[in-house]
Amino acid sequence: MTNKSVRFSSGNHMKRQLLVAALTMSSVCMNGQSRTATITLEPSKAETTISRHIYGHFSEHLGHCIYEGLWVGRDSRIPNIDGVRKDVFDALKQIRIPNLRWPGGCFADEYHWRDGIGQKRAKMVNTNWGYATEDNSFGTHEFLNMCEQLDTEPYVCGNLGSGTVEEMSKWVEYMNSPNESPMTELRKQNGREKPWKVTYFAVGNESYGCGGNFTVEDYVTAYRRYQTFCRNYNGGYLKKVASGPGLPDDYHWTETVMKRIPADMMWGLSLHYYTIPGPWEHKGSATDFTRDELFTTLAYALNIESAIVKQDSVMSIYDPEKKVALVVDEWGTWFDVEPGTNPGFLYQQNTMRDALVAALTLNIFNNHADRVRMANIAQIVNVLQSVILTKDEKIVLTPTYHVFDMFKVHQDARLIPSKVDSPMFSNGQWTLPQVNASASIDADGKTHLTITNLSPDSEVEVCCPMASSMAREITEAKLLTANMIADHNTFDNPDKVHIESFKKATLKNGILTLKMPAKSVVMVELN
Ligand code: AHR
Repeated sequence: MTNKSVRFSSGNHMKRQLLVAALTMSSVCMNGQSRTATITLEPSKAETTISRHIYGHFSEHLGHCIYEGLWVGRDSRIPNIDGVRKDVFDALKQIRIPNLRWPGGCFADEYHWRDGIGQKRAKMVNTNWGYATEDNSFGTHEFLNMCEQLDTEPYVCGNLGSGTVEEMSKWVEYMNSPNESPMTELRKQNGREKPWKVTYFAVGNESYGCGGNFTVEDYVTAYRRYQTFCRNYNGGYLKKVASGPGLPDDYHWTETVMKRIPADMMWGLSLHYYTIPGPWEHKGSATDFTRDELFTTLAYALNIESAIVKQDSVMSIYDPEKKVALVVDEWGTWFDVEPGTNPGFLYQQNTMRDALVAALTLNIFNNHADRVRMANIAQIVNVLQSVILTKDEKIVLTPTYHVFDMFKVHQDARLIPSKVDSPMFSNGQWTLPQVNASASIDADGKTHLTITNLSPDSEVEVCCPMASSMAREITEAKLLTANMIADHNTFDNPDKVHIESFKKATLKNGILTLKMPAKSVVMVELN
């Protein structure tokens, strides 16, 4: 658009000034390069808090997520803190995980919590995940004590599918009640005097499917009844999460839940969103993928924004004040399992492609923090898009782990609304924006931007005019990239993809300029 073609309505001086400012900014940012993205920030509108719970994780009794992933037991030769692997524990501390969802997933609706407490634990068959025998040695005490030591909030998923109202009610009482009762006596006998403080509690998981194949009409009736008996104890408030739709575009489910369940019975509504670039029987390899599969993966991952916007618009019909949170409590890539591993264990490697998916998704969550107030990547260790992989005494921090490390600066910071004007890139089938980003300002007044360059081939220049109040200098800049998009960390080469310091960021005359390499993620801090 040229200046000439701009027409102003008479008297609209303010609008005119803003437009002139925008034109000046974009000309400031234009330096003759075609691959330039412009980020426009609105610091005066930094009102919404990015809940730290967007950076949550998910641990299910599935494959080697719990056993060998998080938990090795107190007698293991692998160094541990009360049974929790020390290497994994230390790595999770570093990325400050705000909450951890457990025990599932589909497993949750088959889980009977009493089997997982006390000296004698009943075994069961994990019918959802490889028919593995579950010995229940990791149960309520092990999970909640681990969360306490990690300083992370437990997010417990209750069994609506095959459990009773009484069972769910008593579990909440066992975990949270300070009062004298048979449940609290039992807890004390099992070694825990004081209640834990469980705040987040899901009433069923995927209730449309593995959680009981409910119709939404039946689910809301069951939800209302079950949640009634999940009480608030000790002055606390239990934040209950209802199961969400089976498909991101199933609006009937969302609408019915929102219409039939009042906000005082439901803190949040769940949404699951997996990026699966192929048909279910052949989702594609995590490491050996084509260029077209890369584009499809990025396109599907980017599409989470449209799912959030549409779900939000349905929720807003009944809840315009956005009291009910959208809780994306399962998200991430889902590929074929690694060759030679149990198909029921969902073990997959994790490349720079996964890092891009993680970064773009977290940017999207940040930008929709007014509705998305909790999210959980699936899953924390050894399952799907994990941040950590383990093998005997070795661990690997995946590229996705490094993204969580770089993005932790946004936790509980205020979102700075931003607009990205990005060059596009294409493979013929998909045409995608090369750059996505989000920005926030933290309690100390530091501004952070996290930016992705999704193109596997081209570098990009990113230009962002900064208000003087936001930026006197760049105080830190970090880069995550790789030689090849399929690069990943292995037990023999655990550091192939790692965070490095980013040298190509400058701040001159109030303009932040970044020269980002292809397939990269950058975090810049300004003060
Ligand atoms: O994360 C794996 C599975 O995916 C979960 O158990 C289930 O909720 C979802 O379908």
